[in-house]
Amino acid sequence: MDLKVYLEERRNLVNRALEAYLPAVRGPAFRVVQAMHYSLFVGGKRLRPILCLAAAEAVGGDPGEALPVACALEMVHTYSLIHDDLPAMDDDDLRRGQPTCHKKFDEATAILAGDGLLTEAFHLLAAAASRFEGREAMLLEVTELLAKAAGYRGMVGGQMLDLMAEGRKINLKELELIHRCKTGALLTAATRSGALVGGGNRIQVAALTSYGERFGLAFQITDDLLDVEGDAAEMGKAPGMDEQRQKATYPALVGLEASRQWAKRLVEEAMAEVESFQDRAAPLRELAKYLLVRRS
Ligand code: IPE
Ligand code: IPE
Ligand code: MG
Ligand code: MG
Ligand code: MG
Repeated sequence: MDLKVYLEERRNLVNRALEAYLPAVRGPAFRVVQAMHYSLFVGGKRLRPILCLAAAEAVGGDPGEALPVACALEMVHTYSLIHDDLPAMDDDDLRRGQPTCHKKFDEATAILAGDGLLTEAFHLLAAAASRFEGREAMLLEVTELLAKAAGYRGMVGGQMLDLMAEGRKINLKELELIHRCKTGALLTAATRSGALVGGGNRIQVAALTSYGERFGLAFQITDDLLDVEGDAAEMGKAPGMDEQRQKATYPALVGLEASRQWAKRLVEEAMAEVESFQDRAAPLRELAKYLLVRRS
């Protein structure tokens, strides 16, 4: 399969659905809708929704059916980026190749745009209930797992740990926890929710969850590597910020080569998790391999 063509096709599918779920409707508070829209559509690889659709497909489900969940994941992710870039957090000016939300608008608007995207994600899920008639229990499980992954047990907790670790010497175990929480949790939620929507059995859901965990950790390790080795124009964000902010990262703790090796090992493990899915997991295998060569 041609991963580039696949990604392009899936990105278009997700973008069309996102536009339908978040129309730029004018109203008294149009400014916050504009800011939500700006950050959501200014760019982005759409990796989390694409993983969700690919997991649904891997268990023989219809990827189209997973679109509401896929879009909710991207809204939560985009909110996390807006807040991650705020002056009180990583204080970044460039995101997805454009000024960050607080630079384009202002800090208060960026905070509200993040809040708006987070709440809209759960509104979207609840409003999609009619599409899952007879499968409400599944939708509730997906809603719960997304809330858990996004909140203090997952991404929010990881962001807290990330900030608390700035300028401090931490060990590998602590660093792995940060990465698993701040980034791994949402990526794991993507594959797990896709497997559930696709109608996967317990064993399949467990395998795709393990795939997501390994993918998620590898993803943040390669994000750390790109911060050292990457190119601003390709990434759409400024490299070198982790060192400047004395962030706890894999390259800082174990060096570039060991980080690359660790990411490679996790990718191999992720691929092994989906071996039994055969052809239907071809996109998941290609996505895992892509982590090791990605430039953005
Ligand atoms: C960046 O995520 C933030 C991390 C969790 C490392 P992505 O690299 O998926 O960002 P977009 O969505 O493509 O902009
Ligand atoms: C971000 O990690 C994780 C999030 C939950 C947003 P980073 O702070 O490394 O992400 P980038 O490098 O700014 O995209
Ligand atoms: Mg950060
Ligand atoms: Mg950041
Ligand atoms: Mg980073």
